[in-house]
Amino acid sequence: MNYIGSKLSILNYIDNTIQDFAKINNNNVTFCDIFAGTSSVGKYFKKKNYSIISNDIQYYSYVIAKHYIENNKKIEFKRLKQNNITDVFEYLNNLNNKKGFIYYNYTMEGTENQEYERKYFTEENAIKIDSIRIKIEEWKKNNLVEENEYYYLLTCLLEAADKVANTASVYEAFLKNIKKSACKPLQFRPLEVLINSETKKYIVKNKDANDLIKEIEGDILYLDPPYNTRKYDTNYHMLETIALYDNPKIKGKTGVRAENNKRSKYCMKKEVEQTFEELIKNAKFKYIFLSYNDEGIIPFKRIEEIMSKYGSYKVYKQKHKRYKADNKRRYLKNNTIEYIHCLKKNMPERGI
Ligand SMILES: C[S@@+](CC[C@H](N)C(=O)[O-])C[C@H]1O[C@@H](n2cnc3c(N)ncnc32)[C@H](O)[C@@H]1O
Repeated sequence: MNYIGSKLSILNYIDNTIQDFAKINNNNVTFCDIFAGTSSVGKYFKKKNYSIISNDIQYYSYVIAKHYIENNKKIEFKRLKQNNITDVFEYLNNLNNKKGFIYYNYTMEGTENQEYERKYFTEENAIKIDSIRIKIEEWKKNNLVEENEYYYLLTCLLEAADKVANTASVYEAFLKNIKKSACKPLQFRPLEVLINSETKKYIVKNKDANDLIKEIEGDILYLDPPYNTRKYDTNYHMLETIALYDNPKIKGKTGVRAENNKRSKYCMKKEVEQTFEELIKNAKFKYIFLSYNDEGIIPFKRIEEIMSKYGSYKVYKQKHKRYKADNKRRYLKNNTIEYIHCLKKNMPERGI
């Protein structure tokens, strides 16, 4: 998934920085990815055999992590009559019988003559998204899928829908004409399941990071908050609605969710510094790593000051190619500097 702030392309840099700073020599580590987004970082460290705590305020991100991080065994669909993956996917791929929330609110045909005509999906793809989403929920209600299978299917649907969305990448706006990739029929495909040691723990949460931090402890806390005022709730409202499928009130040309209790203080200039400091102060993790680039709304100096208060601090930096769909950007540079601010917090030893 093309995601603002995704760390997929700098996983090695993150890993090398953590190794260099924390000098970890075993994998008996609890790693927390508290702003998980697409789970790219959590997946990487799950593969390294760390125990993972994953969290994000957005529900679609929680769904994705429930699958990639928490699912740790083969998906079997034992309770369904199509009880193998191939049959389940064939069955769902051939469903196209329900016009639902996505069709009626986000296609040209479904919104015709309404106040706002929207073109996020073709008619066929929207019907397919609705049909599959409704069936997944029906299976869950009738206890025909287990919890891990439910999140697996939802993640497959989110990734498939995102590939055929008629946007420049985020859902803040749709394109006037249906682009080539959005014309293709939605392909609902099985995704990989990351199966790892049964001795490791995988915990996935859907909370505000500043609330969760008071409830957890571990060895490495990785922080990748939003850098600027561009909000994930509006940029990815479509994924939130497909994941929740809660018939929300929506508004305006873009059809964003009207009621929103997920406004992030990390996107608010006036709130961000204090919110960040509270997070660092309350963290019961020996090592804390913050990814932040040179265009973030907390000035570099303030991060240095805040983190240095709580232990030994060091910063690493690397040039990074800018996220290409970020066309609302203030600066038109092609590169940014990705900093990783590191802190060894003054607190009792945990033994890594
Ligand atoms: C820069 S992105 C993380 C990208 C992620 N590392 C990846 O590679 O996909 C920031 C994430 O923080 C989440 N977020 C914003 N405010 C939050 C908060 N207060 N608590 C928890 N998550 C939050 C957003 O929903 C978004 O997914």
